[in-house]
Amino acid sequence: MNRRSFIAGATAFLVNSTMLGPSYAQNSANNRPRLRMPPLLDATQTGRVDLTAQFGSTAFFEGASTRTIGYNQGYLGPAIRMKSGALGARLTNALDVPVTAHWHGLLVPGEHDGGPHSAVQPGESWSADMQVEQPPSTAFYHTHVHGRTASDVYAGLAGVIHLSDDRDEERGLPSVYGVDDLSLVLQDRRFDTRDRMAYDLSMMDVMHGFAGNVMVVNGQINAVAAVPKGVTRLRLVNGSNARIYTLFLSDNRPMHLVATDGGYLERPIALEKLLLSPGERAELLVDFGDGRSVALKSDGDPNQGPMGMMGRMRGAMNRVIDRSFTVLDFAVDESLPVGIDVLPDMLDGAMPDLGDTDTLTRHVSLDMGMGGMMGPGMMGRPGSGMMGPGGTGDTMMGTMGVFGINGRPFDMGRIDFEVGLGTTERWVVESPMLAHPFHIHGAMFQVVREDSRTPRPEHTGWKDTVLVTGQSELLVRFDRPASANIPFMFHCHILEHEDRGMMGQFTVT
Ligand code: C2O
Ligand code: CU
Ligand code: CU
Repeated sequence: MNRRSFIAGATAFLVNSTMLGPSYAQNSANNRPRLRMPPLLDATQTGRVDLTAQFGSTAFFEGASTRTIGYNQGYLGPAIRMKSGALGARLTNALDVPVTAHWHGLLVPGEHDGGPHSAVQPGESWSADMQVEQPPSTAFYHTHVHGRTASDVYAGLAGVIHLSDDRDEERGLPSVYGVDDLSLVLQDRRFDTRDRMAYDLSMMDVMHGFAGNVMVVNGQINAVAAVPKGVTRLRLVNGSNARIYTLFLSDNRPMHLVATDGGYLERPIALEKLLLSPGERAELLVDFGDGRSVALKSDGDPNQGPMGMMGRMRGAMNRVIDRSFTVLDFAVDESLPVGIDVLPDMLDGAMPDLGDTDTLTRHVSLDMGMGGMMGPGMMGRPGSGMMGPGGTGDTMMGTMGVFGINGRPFDMGRIDFEVGLGTTERWVVESPMLAHPFHIHGAMFQVVREDSRTPRPEHTGWKDTVLVTGQSELLVRFDRPASANIPFMFHCHILEHEDRGMMGQFTVT
């Protein structure tokens, strides 16, 4: 029998899944694999990162191999540790499809950013000699070839970056890699009845984004993370194609948020729940000093579930449709050294404060071409990008899957905005239907309002990606250049939406 940490609400075709009761995790904890960290690629001394995109074969379930891809290994890539300063990166493509290495969260010029204009053909390589100059943070890297980002990230082309300044000990933050400083790449994947990872898109998968039925953390299923009997730092990366997590701990102990996408906060914020959408990162401190085991859990994805799209409509916006599920189990291992046993009360991060700057306002509407799906009340929003009147099944199939921004699907040959280098702009981002994680390359921003309210606590630090559930107002600081040849992207980080056109590009000069 298979052992699965399955995700509720997405398991219809998995007949075995109901065999796993809630006590399953405890009963079998002893036979479960220990969570592994990605291998560490330490570039802090060498200033060099060499990646090869390569084929692999991964048995997520014993005896059932799936063809996967990864950077320097069969699935996912190493954890890259780097510091500010000169960094020489090189990507070699040993696959038979084009790839890139996009540094999601690094503030580097467009030509080094690894976006769709920097696609590396099979057998070729790409180099970026970068100057990295930004505060410590947890970033993300992944392939970004237009039209195939979703399938290739799904198959494994993604990894985590630690930008470090070697001062975490002074900050009182856990920093021993794999002991009290854990990197967790959260992904949901879909496994077929033969336990192989599958990526078959239905119409619903394209609309809502592809959701899996099994949790995969660092490329492993059903693993248990061993932690010392003290304070542990969790660097969370949502590396899922589409799933939005609402994370909490099974005994409701607080999670102390210390960093968001752009780095440290001023002081930790105790959270009961953490919203983490695709592309976002968060660093949490969790105190395991009582020695008890605890599970990191998530509520259902607000974009998924039996009610589907309708669940997102007015009045039902925050309704959680499917049940909660376990993301990862933690067990205290008393043989591990305890580095930190007191939570720090101050950090040295700077909170964004762009409020007084002179700004230009831009409107960004994340559009789904699905006029045919919607009732009359949802139609007729000017500029919402509906493609045709729809109404029949055929038209529905024809119009779904054409997504855009401000009514236009992405075009590699069109520059959507020209932004002034060194300026701050106010971007008003609208998600008329689903919740969309909105990401901007080459810039960090402050969330000033969301749905006419002050932002949720986890959105108060510097961000490069944020979930927009209705309307969010962002103040964006642009201080890295990008030319029309290799512009920066802005897009929905639900990868199925991005690939189908919910993306735009801009220059910064
Ligand atoms: Cu994480 Cu444009 O991407
Ligand atoms: Cu990015
Ligand atoms: Cu989207």
